[in-house]
Amino acid sequence: MTSTHAFWLAGRQATGETAFDVTSPWDGRIVGRVSVPTDAQVEEAVAAAHAVRDEFAATPAHVRAAALDHVSRRLVERTEEIAQLISAENGKPVKWARGEVGRAVSVFRFAAEEARRFNGGEAQRLDTDPGGQGRLALTRRFPKGVVLGIAPFNFPLNLCAHKIAPAIAVGAPIILKPAPATPLSGLLLGELLAETELPAGSWSVLPVENDRMPALVQDERLPVISFTGSDKVGYAIMDSVPRKHCTLELGGNGAAVVLADFGRDEDLDWAASRIATFSNYQGGQSCISVQRVVADASLYERLVPKIVAAVEKQVTGDPSDPATDVGPLVSEDAAKRVEAWVEEAVQAGARLLAGGKRDGASYAPTVLADVPSGVTLACEEVFGPVLTVQRADGEEAAFAAVNDSKYGLQAGVFTHDVQTAFRAHRALEVGGVIVGDVPSYRADQMPYGGAKQSGVGREGVRFAMDDYTYERVLVLTGLAL
Ligand code: SIN
Repeated sequence: MTSTHAFWLAGRQATGETAFDVTSPWDGRIVGRVSVPTDAQVEEAVAAAHAVRDEFAATPAHVRAAALDHVSRRLVERTEEIAQLISAENGKPVKWARGEVGRAVSVFRFAAEEARRFNGGEAQRLDTDPGGQGRLALTRRFPKGVVLGIAPFNFPLNLCAHKIAPAIAVGAPIILKPAPATPLSGLLLGELLAETELPAGSWSVLPVENDRMPALVQDERLPVISFTGSDKVGYAIMDSVPRKHCTLELGGNGAAVVLADFGRDEDLDWAASRIATFSNYQGGQSCISVQRVVADASLYERLVPKIVAAVEKQVTGDPSDPATDVGPLVSEDAAKRVEAWVEEAVQAGARLLAGGKRDGASYAPTVLADVPSGVTLACEEVFGPVLTVQRADGEEAAFAAVNDSKYGLQAGVFTHDVQTAFRAHRALEVGGVIVGDVPSYRADQMPYGGAKQSGVGREGVRFAMDDYTYERVLVLTGLAL
């Protein structure tokens, strides 16, 4: 019999009146049962966060940094157990789950380091004009208030870490809502936070159902919303609270561009192997997985067979097997949606070069060529192990093809030429350009976020800390400067 996981209400464990099962997308087994907070318990968490906000903002940096360091260390100690948990609730192959834990270790460590150096204050002399004689401006950053963090299922640990760690680093209380499909990793982070000296009320992890979220989104005691998920839900949240500060990390349909100067055999082998791996990692369920390859016409015919061969080498199957590269999608419904999009593209004239088969929640690594521009697969984020290939005549046409999308999260550009790299940086309408690799590269300390409909604001530890805070200036008068 599965025991019920409590949730975290103002830093302590609590249970509600109802519970739901978390099942493995691989074999449907029950991985855990999670208690759901009542409305009164949600109110208690919000009231506690609101009440503690001034005290938490004034908590010394060493206290916050020590808590963050503690979580980072405990994640290291419990890596294997947590990787198994991520894999079980999400279906992510355990080798990728281990990588996710390693990233969360870094996120908490980066946040501890940033907490120690954040907000030292910047002094600006104001006597550059006669009216400012004897005056000095001192600028520091203060939390905007309690953060409501809404996390997705695809990185159930690390994207929770990206909400929580920067909040603690700046002294902003946070209410975290993990994804309904994968709440266990977020709840486990709660276990580690509960071992720290952070003030009661400064953090809660509440597995609230999605249909109860509008009330929390509207709550004026939660002025900052940090959401990662679909563009549809993200923009609905932002439109419903236009006066709140919203950070939205939304979808993408990541493109990898392979340019003419990247045409040696070893170049193409590298590009093909990276593209095959990162169009399929986590079943393609990453906002920066490779969905589109735009290859220069001069090397297209040589590159595509290498990509197909590398995709066909991906090992599919049981996510708990360390040899598995590609496990199931998060649900059978998700796999059926991917199947429908591929079928639509094929019926419209696309050529299937690999994959195209579904088995329950699993979808085979798939490559398509000649995808007509109007089909869903060409316009939307597939969030599945599906890759399209297209050719472009030269750099300008390739960059235009990348920009021919409503999304703009990250792009990869395979080139050896530093001038081309700078032109790509200027031309591509995305939040990040990765030169010599796929768009899926993310270092957790760098700014991460989108242009166009891929989102608003930036994560990446220090950038989220900026996002959760605002500048407040202190003007001192009558000084001998
Ligand atoms: C995402 O899917 O937006 C997150 C990607 C990552 O953190 O690697």
